[in-house]
Amino acid sequence: MPASLGVAVIGAGMAGRAHAAAYRTAPTVYASTLPDIRLVSIGDVSPEFGSLAARRFGYERNDTSWQAIAEADDIDVVSVVVANHLHREIVEGLLAAGKHVLCEKPLSDGIDDAIAMADAARAATSIARVGFTYRRSPGIAYIRDLVRSGVLGRVLHVSGRYWTDYAADPHIPISWRFKGAPGSGALADVGSHLAYIAEFIGGDIAEVSGGRFATVIPERPKPLGAVIGHEHGAVSDEIDSVENDDYAAFSFSFADGGAGAIEVSRVASGHANSLIIEVFGEKGSATFDFRTPTEIGLTLNEGPAAQRGFRRVLLGPDHPYIRGGLAMDATTVGFGQNEGFVYQARAFLEEVARLPEETSLPRCASFDEGVHNMRLLGAVAESAARGGASVSIRQEVSA
Ligand SMILES: NC(=O)c1ccc[n+]([C@@H]2O[C@H](COP(=O)([O-])OP(=O)(O)OC[C@H]3O[C@@H](n4cnc5c(N)ncnc54)[C@H](O)[C@@H]3O)[C@@H](O)[C@H]2O)c1
Repeated sequence: MPASLGVAVIGAGMAGRAHAAAYRTAPTVYASTLPDIRLVSIGDVSPEFGSLAARRFGYERNDTSWQAIAEADDIDVVSVVVANHLHREIVEGLLAAGKHVLCEKPLSDGIDDAIAMADAARAATSIARVGFTYRRSPGIAYIRDLVRSGVLGRVLHVSGRYWTDYAADPHIPISWRFKGAPGSGALADVGSHLAYIAEFIGGDIAEVSGGRFATVIPERPKPLGAVIGHEHGAVSDEIDSVENDDYAAFSFSFADGGAGAIEVSRVASGHANSLIIEVFGEKGSATFDFRTPTEIGLTLNEGPAAQRGFRRVLLGPDHPYIRGGLAMDATTVGFGQNEGFVYQARAFLEEVARLPEETSLPRCASFDEGVHNMRLLGAVAESAARGGASVSIRQEVSA
């Protein structure tokens, strides 16, 4: 195990800050098994955003180019948390320089770039992983456990929706999120999470159908300054076109016969971050709603029929991630999305430090899984382009 690991985060935007904070907290959860974690640099083309984040989260410096981070001898581990179309160049450059890379989802903004990144990861001497943060949410991880242990029985039906409203206001300025091919909008931004979770819980999806996209706000003002995350900010009189989906939906079939549907939106006013997944099995059902992340709904088809129905299970130390994963790890103390980034950073650092898998958090997803996720989203785009036709994922993989 190395004596210490130097960490950098490229991108000081909405999610970059979550990564920066997570590396700071990662050594403070669970047993003290990690090497010394040095918080070295925040890389952002904006010196203002970079230096603010470096100061705020206690990093030694900020850099304004990813190349400076690739060349730095004191950096071993790098999170890439910038716009999706920038992932490939930065990730490939970092891997070529021998850095361990944790790339944000979706792996890229196009399947060809994603495949090239997976090839680069296979050829690299360092570790490359992609961050599907929500798998670290204790409720989602526990529902997966309920499926894997057979408690819910075979999964018959999964319903997922991820409704956000960051783009519901037509005055929200244009940014990288609104540019790209069909499927690079709400589907890639939030649907990538949900598609990953549907497979994380229910197994491989074999086919999608009923793909449908809608761009309901076709034009937006250009910003006057830099746009971070979902922030509003001052806008100019100039208008730019929205190229991708504000809304997306599709149905799917699992390889083992179960069925389901996913609906995502960035224009669902009142739903800032409503990720909801309902899993219906042969022996019972479980539900999760990110608005109440410290509980799940559970019903089991047992006992007198008159007493059946959903109950609220409060998540605590007997559920995944919580025992030792919070400074105060009692039931109902509260946790949410930021803890997911902590567990993700911890899992990545454990792998880089070569700690045994059996005593570590579950490893982060591979770039091959990132490619698979993008193939799934690509199949939805193909289904939408073909009027909702069925598109087989397996055929796509072998094509
Ligand atoms: N896991 C999650 O929950 C989650 C949440 C939000 C975003 N994301 C993902 O994180 C990534 C970034 O999203 P975001 O919302 O944080 O973006 P953002 O627009 O808020 O921030 C991007 C930052 O990158 C900087 N930047 C632009 N070009 C750069 C370059 N060449 N080198 C270095 N920095 C550069 C910008 O100045 C900005 O500060 C995306 O891939 C997105 O899908 C994941």
